[in-house]
Amino acid sequence: MDDSSEDQRLPHRLDPNQPCPAAVLHSLGVRVWALDADAYADGDPRLAAIRKARGYSYEDCVTITPEALPGYEDKIRSFYQEHLHTDEEIRYILDGSGYFDVRDLEDRWVRIWCRKGALLVIPEGIYHRFTLDTSNHVKALRLFVGVPVWTPHNRPAEDVPSRAKYLASVADTAVGAAA
Ligand SMILES: [Fe+2]
Repeated sequence: MDDSSEDQRLPHRLDPNQPCPAAVLHSLGVRVWALDADAYADGDPRLAAIRKARGYSYEDCVTITPEALPGYEDKIRSFYQEHLHTDEEIRYILDGSGYFDVRDLEDRWVRIWCRKGALLVIPEGIYHRFTLDTSNHVKALRLFVGVPVWTPHNRPAEDVPSRAKYLASVADTAVGAAA
C-alpha cells in the first residue's frame, strides 16, 4: 500500500497496483478463507470444521459503525496503531468490510481488504493494524482459543517473546528466500 497520509479508510493502493499473491500471505503466516456468511446462522459446517481443526473455543460478535460505537473516530484511529498480539487474531466478517494491514518480511505494509464471508487469521507476533473502509460498517465474529486476550503491544515490541517466535516461524517459509 502507499504511504500517503490520506484518510486511512481509503484503499491506499500503489500506482500501479502491486497485487500480493496468496502465497506471500501464506508465507507471512496469514490464513484466509472465503466462506458463506449467510450460512453462519444455520451452523455452517465449513466454519465448524475450521474451528475444530484450529481449536477455536470462544466467539463473540462486534459491530462497528459510527452509530454503534461511541467515540467512533477516536476508536478507529486506535485500531490503526501498529501492534502485535501474543495470540492469533481471528476475524470472520459477517457483514460490511474493512482493511487489515500486515507487515511483510521487508517491513512493507500489505493491505488485505476483508469483505463479507472473509475469515482471516493473523498470526501471533506479526505487526498489523485494522481500519474500516469508507463504508464505515463491519460486523465481525471474534474467535479465540480459550479465554480471550485482546491486549495490543504497540510497536516497538521486539522484547515481546511472540515477536521472536514469529520471526523464527517465518524464517524458513519466506517466498523467494534463499535455500
Ligand atoms: Fe490486532
